[in-house]
Amino acid sequence: MPKVTIMPGNHTAEVPAGTTLLDAGEEAHVDMEAGCFNCSCGTCVAEILSGMENLEPPTDDELNVLDQWNKDPEKYRLTCCVKILKGEVTLTQGH
Ligand code: FES
Repeated sequence: MPKVTIMPGNHTAEVPAGTTLLDAGEEAHVDMEAGCFNCSCGTCVAEILSGMENLEPPTDDELNVLDQWNKDPEKYRLTCCVKILKGEVTLTQGH
């Protein structure tokens, strides 16, 4: 199963493919920041430290919100929107 690691703290969880990073973080017992749960507020933005290639590509909605926050979609993603597809992903929360 895909594996998610949340930094700092090195919290990990193995989750089924198709799980959002937000849900994966909760699974790893991390108190994940989120607001709308709907890919529109940007509260859940996280920096992807590795494994971007294992995530679903961003939707137009996600790209628009990342743009509003001036976050590069090559490095930052919204955890409530994006699903892990395979492999390992490491991220850190916050802005
Ligand atoms: S919680 Fe609002 S964009 Fe993710």
